[in-house]
Amino acid sequence: MQMTFGKQALQQSSPSSLFSLRGSLLFLAILTLLSFTYLSLKYSTPAPQVSVAKLVDARVNDAEEEKDEEQFTDIYHSPHVFKLNYAEMEKKFKVYIYPDGDPNTFFQTPRKLTGKYASEGYFFQNIRESRFRTDDPDQADLFFIPISCHKMRGKGTSYENMTIIVQNYVEGLISKYPYWNRTLGADHFFVTCHDVGVRATEGLPLLVKNSIRAVCSPSYDVGFIPHKDVALPQVLQPFALPAGGNDIENRTTLGFWAGHRNSKIRVILARVWENDTELDISNNRISRATGHLVYQQRFYRSKFCICPGGSQVNSARIADSIHYGCIPVILSNYYDLPFNDILDWRKFSVVLKENDVYQLKQILKGISHAEFVTLHNNLVKVQRHFQWNSPPVQFDAFHMVMYDLWLRQHTIKY
Ligand SMILES: *[C@@H]1O[C@H](CO)[C@@H](O)[C@H](O)[C@H]1NC(C)=O
Ligand SMILES: *[C@@H]1O[C@H](CO)[C@@H](O)[C@H](O)[C@H]1NC(C)=O
Ligand SMILES: *[C@@H]1O[C@H](CO)[C@@H](O)[C@H](O)[C@H]1NC(C)=O
Ligand SMILES: *[C@@H]1O[C@H](CO)[C@@H](O)[C@H](O)[C@H]1NC(C)=O
Repeated sequence: MQMTFGKQALQQSSPSSLFSLRGSLLFLAILTLLSFTYLSLKYSTPAPQVSVAKLVDARVNDAEEEKDEEQFTDIYHSPHVFKLNYAEMEKKFKVYIYPDGDPNTFFQTPRKLTGKYASEGYFFQNIRESRFRTDDPDQADLFFIPISCHKMRGKGTSYENMTIIVQNYVEGLISKYPYWNRTLGADHFFVTCHDVGVRATEGLPLLVKNSIRAVCSPSYDVGFIPHKDVALPQVLQPFALPAGGNDIENRTTLGFWAGHRNSKIRVILARVWENDTELDISNNRISRATGHLVYQQRFYRSKFCICPGGSQVNSARIADSIHYGCIPVILSNYYDLPFNDILDWRKFSVVLKENDVYQLKQILKGISHAEFVTLHNNLVKVQRHFQWNSPPVQFDAFHMVMYDLWLRQHTIKY
C-alpha cells in the first residue's frame, strides 16, 4: 500500500498537475516579463512611460549596490553573509554586564585608552556606551564578566593573589546569579589584553574551559581554543601619524622591521638580514634620539612590514602596519589572527612560517607589482576594522569583536 502510494497519488492528481503545469508556464511567462521590465529599467534608456519616481528609486538602489560592492568584497570570507548577519547583530545582540567586584582589591574597569593594552580599555568603555548593553539579564544573549588585572598588577599584587581575587569574584557571581549554571558558563565571556589577565584566570579551570575568552595573545601556549575563543586585536592607540594608503609611489623599501630580539625568530631575522640593502632590518628598536617619529615614517616608506612573533603578546605591530598602509608579513608558526573567521587575511597580508625567514627576500620579491597593489588596496579597506573609537563606530575593532562574539553565541544559545 505504502509502496504504491506515490504512483497512485501521481495518477490521481494527473489532470490537476497538467493544469498546474499550465499555471506554472503562465507564471514563468509573467516572471520573465517582469524581470525583463526590471532589467530594461535598470540598464537601458528608460521607456517614456516609466515614472520619474521609479527611475530615481532604481538609481538610488544602484548607487547603494555599488557602494556595497566596494565595501563587501572578497576581503571577507563570505561578504554577503557578513553584511546581512552584521546588520542582524546590530539590531538584536544584547549583553548583560555583571557588576564590578570590590573596588578596593579589584579594579575591573580600566580607564586607560592608551598604551599596549588599550584594546582592553576600549572594550570595557565601548560596551558600556554601546547599544548592545542591557540591564535585563533575561534579554541577554551573552554575559560579560568584567575581569581586568593590570591595575592589580600596578599595585604589586602577586599572581597567586590575583588568581584568588578573580576566583572569589567569579565564584561569587556563580552562586549569586542563576545564569552561569544554565550553560556552565558557555554564554559568558571575559576580555583581557594583558597576559597577566590570562594568567590570573587560569586558576579557574571552569572559566578557561567553558567561557569565551577574548585575548590579545591568541597562541596555543596560552590555551587559546580557536572555535570558542576570540582573538582581540592589539592596537597601540592613539596612532602618532594619520593612516596611510594610496601612496604606493612613496613605498620604496621592500621590507622593514625594527625591534627587540626577544624571541628565537627575531634573533634569526636580525642575524640573516641585518645588512641587507633591500630589506631594512634593524636589530634594535629605533630610539627617539634618532629623530621624531622615525619609526612610524618607515612604515610609510615600506611595501612590506615584517611581524615576527615576540616574547609574548605582540600583535600591536600588525595593527601598526595596517594603519600605516604597509602590508603585514606574519612570520609565525601559529598565530590566530584577529577576525580570522571573518576576514580573509591572504587578501591583505602575507602569512609565512618561521622557516621562511631564510627566503624572506626572495618571497617578497616574488610578489608582482600588480599583486602588491591589490594587497595594498585591500589593506586600506580593512583599516577601519583595526581602529578603536570612543564612542564606537560601525565596523570598527569593537564592532568586529562583538560580531565574533555574536557568531559564537549562536552555538550556545540558552
Ligand atoms: C597576598 O594575600 C595575602 C593574604 O591576603 C597577603 O597577606 C599578602 O601580603 C598578599 N601578597 C601580595 C604580594 O599581594
Ligand atoms: C550553581 O552551581 C554551583 C555548583 O553546583 C552551586 O554551588 C551554586 O550555588 C549554583 N548557583 C545557583 C545560583 O544556584
Ligand atoms: C609622498 O611623500 C611626500 C614626502 O614625504 C609627501 O609630501 C607626499 O604627500 C607623499 N605622497 C602620498 C601619496 O602620500
Ligand atoms: C653586518 O655588519 C656588521 C658591521 O659591519 C658586522 O659586524 C656583522 O657581522 C654583519 N652581519 C652579517 C650577517 O653579515
